[in-house]
Amino acid sequence: MKAQLIDILAENIQELEKEEIASALEIPKKSDMGDFAFPCFKLAKVYRKAPNMIAEDLTKKILEKNYDIFSKVENVGGYINFFFAKEEFAKQLVKTIGVEDFGASDEGEGKTICIDYSSPNVAKNFHVGHLRTTIIGNSLYKIYSKLGYHVERINHLGDWGTQFGKLIVAYKRWGSKEAVEKNGIAELMKIYVKFHQEAEKDDSLNDEARAWFVKMEQGDEEALSIWQWFKDISLVEYKRIYKLLGMEFDHYTGESFYRDKTQAVVDELNEKHLLVESDGAHIVPLDDYNMAPCLITKKDGSSIYATRDLAALFYRKKTYHFDKCIYVTGLEQKLHFAQVFKVIELLGYDWYDQLVHVPYGLVSMEGGKLSTRSGNVIYAEEILHESIQKIYEIIEEKNPDLEDKETVARQVGIGAILFNDLYNQRIKDVVFNWDKILNFDGETGPYVQYTYARCASVMRKAGDVTIPEEIDYSVLTDDVTMNLLKDITRFPEVIKDAADKYEPFMISRFAVSVAQHFNKFYHDCQINVEDENVKMARLKVVSITMRVIKDALALLGIECPEQM
Ligand code: ARG
Repeated sequence: MKAQLIDILAENIQELEKEEIASALEIPKKSDMGDFAFPCFKLAKVYRKAPNMIAEDLTKKILEKNYDIFSKVENVGGYINFFFAKEEFAKQLVKTIGVEDFGASDEGEGKTICIDYSSPNVAKNFHVGHLRTTIIGNSLYKIYSKLGYHVERINHLGDWGTQFGKLIVAYKRWGSKEAVEKNGIAELMKIYVKFHQEAEKDDSLNDEARAWFVKMEQGDEEALSIWQWFKDISLVEYKRIYKLLGMEFDHYTGESFYRDKTQAVVDELNEKHLLVESDGAHIVPLDDYNMAPCLITKKDGSSIYATRDLAALFYRKKTYHFDKCIYVTGLEQKLHFAQVFKVIELLGYDWYDQLVHVPYGLVSMEGGKLSTRSGNVIYAEEILHESIQKIYEIIEEKNPDLEDKETVARQVGIGAILFNDLYNQRIKDVVFNWDKILNFDGETGPYVQYTYARCASVMRKAGDVTIPEEIDYSVLTDDVTMNLLKDITRFPEVIKDAADKYEPFMISRFAVSVAQHFNKFYHDCQINVEDENVKMARLKVVSITMRVIKDALALLGIECPEQM
């Protein structure tokens, strides 16, 4: 109907292009100001008349033509307010939002996006900071897939570097096979801490560790088999978390995957005269760009984080032919990515502008007990289980007869954490407050899921009905219903906007807004009534809302139980 309105305006205002008209059209804050308003201020210059005079003349002209899509057209203070014929408008809205896979598009057809996310550091615990990259990255994957992109989900494990030399030394001195097998990462963390304590007193341990890492880089069998074992043990724990979250990756190509690919990077940097020696190390100076130099090789010749990221980029470009490569990490890695992207540009590759760093803020517990930067002390797995447990207790108390309580508790408990992580702009810090996160009435995951379950319950109560293709649209013309329908129409724009800005929070806000509009509708408009016309029309609204809520939550990685 907006398109029709634009056509009508274009017909009556020859002086403006359609695009100008479209961008000028406004949606009034209050519905008593119409469905759309057209401001006439810009036309004052063209017509050399006061805007309110122009609005008055145009309104008259339009009214004379008796277009049947309007129920009312009026001019108020330089604006023309358009009220659509309600029944027709309701019909158009239902037709628009009632389609299967509403919100999907093909803008990404034939295009590939690499998303590098999660990427925990082997032998270290998976903390809440890694949980955030995992949650945000997964949501971006869903959003881009919805827009038709092909997405490669890459887990760039931190599985290479000097820390493994230290771990090998620590294991050989103080470790035991049984303890590592039994306690996994916790044990590896323990001996790693021990290493640092001992190395304070005896610096030769550091030399020993460096030597072991050099051995690893040279392919020493013993070194590599211990390292591989640490990695396998760590992966068991990480995969347990991914399973709990219902998330998967296409590639677990960590830093070690590039160990035979870094020399080529060094050679190319040399050929293009970008590499400079500095104290035995090799760097790419970036002073001209107000950045610290990008370190490429250390004194002992070993590669580092940035070298492996450069090698990874060449590999990904060659293998996946990406149109965009996105990195989701904490804000503290901003400089690192700026340096890596700059080096790609200096090497002369025009695709440097396809590289995007998507940073996020810190996670802390309310009361300021913990922050990820200082200690990485909040373990993701514990938080997830605690959330599930808390939801389980709420269910036990409020709805003890619910079927399959474990599954529902998992869906809602996990959903609550995901939603909380995705409810604000990425860059904002996330504060954990259990009362807020798990509140069924707040702007939370459980609230939206509960609304979905409410829709499902209405449908169940209605029994075995088939909602007819054409319903009585006049039933839906009240403000509350129309506001719900109009709100839902935003879905495609919201998805597009979330993708363009790498901001899943736009989807969560949308989901809450739809849930709120629905709950008003549920409260004001009785659904299961005698009158079949009314009942069918309203059930149609319920079924559409239900699907859109489910689809929106799916974009965040959240499941919807049918009963709660
Ligand atoms: N392992 C790193 C960390 O835990 C994140 C890796 C991000 N991805 C990358 N390609 N550098 O901080």
